[in-house]
Amino acid sequence: MTRHVLLVTRRLPGAIEARAARDYEARLNVEDTPRTGPDILRLAAGADAILCCPADRLDGATIAALPASIRVLGTFSVGFDHIDLAAARARGLKVVNTPDVLSVATAEIAMLLILAASRRAGEGERLVRAGRWTGWAPTQLIGTHVFGRRLGILGMGRIGRELARMAGAFGMPVHYLNRARLPPDLEGHARFLDDEDEFLAASEILSLNAPGGDGTRRWLNAERIGKLPAGAVVVNAARGTLVDDAALIDALRRGHVAAAGLDVYDGEPRLNPDYLGLENVVLLPHLGSATRQTRDAMGNLALDGIDAVLAGREPGNLVR
Ligand code: DGY
Repeated sequence: MTRHVLLVTRRLPGAIEARAARDYEARLNVEDTPRTGPDILRLAAGADAILCCPADRLDGATIAALPASIRVLGTFSVGFDHIDLAAARARGLKVVNTPDVLSVATAEIAMLLILAASRRAGEGERLVRAGRWTGWAPTQLIGTHVFGRRLGILGMGRIGRELARMAGAFGMPVHYLNRARLPPDLEGHARFLDDEDEFLAASEILSLNAPGGDGTRRWLNAERIGKLPAGAVVVNAARGTLVDDAALIDALRRGHVAAAGLDVYDGEPRLNPDYLGLENVVLLPHLGSATRQTRDAMGNLALDGIDAVLAGREPGNLVR
């Protein structure tokens, strides 16, 4: 029996590549070379499915030019803002993603950023590594408590809810802004604030956990930053496009935002170079889902979805 052809755009965890090679005629990327749109088009000739990643841009022109043999796009991510969904729908392509399985790992990174930014961990690490640490001092690198500080979560999806749960262990009162109020079992101890100004004014720590895309582009702009309490901490483990970088950098310089923790950037892997000169920013390289367990689970879920579509079944992880 001939096997379906699967194009995999990036290196995947060993167990996932092994499964892909077992079940498909898999076109792997063992050198892990980043693929451009034209690369994907060339490599996809005659393929049935593509397993892509958030770093691949599947824009309208690329999707329109994909070979007619492609029936499904799987993305190794929960976010799908790198895929032009309208273009995929227009040509009858199914898209599957990896919800749920990365929520804990990504919420952990948001919590890590909250702690690291509030407690000046980046500055401390740089001091020690540079050999400039002269010993304990009562006034050295004084940060602010995380325990008991009010956390505002923008976007109370699965990751936001995990973060709220973790914040409970730090005694943080949590409030959230979301398209709709959650049912009590999902809301837990978090308080729904549907007034944006009230939400911002209450956010001593603001965590961005909303999806990327046009609807949230530059949501955190100068005006909204101005409504945060003086000395607020901002963290983003969602998408870089949510932030107006110039406005955040200005607020960090003035101290209105005391510190920020960023795992994602608009246009990554490039980032606004002004962040690099700021001591009060913790910068991570998009580590949200980067645990062994999570990346295996993401790969398996993406492959489950691709398998289902190619077998004519409805995948549980279909992007609608
Ligand atoms: C996602 O899944 O969208 C993440 O950004 C990748 O970790």
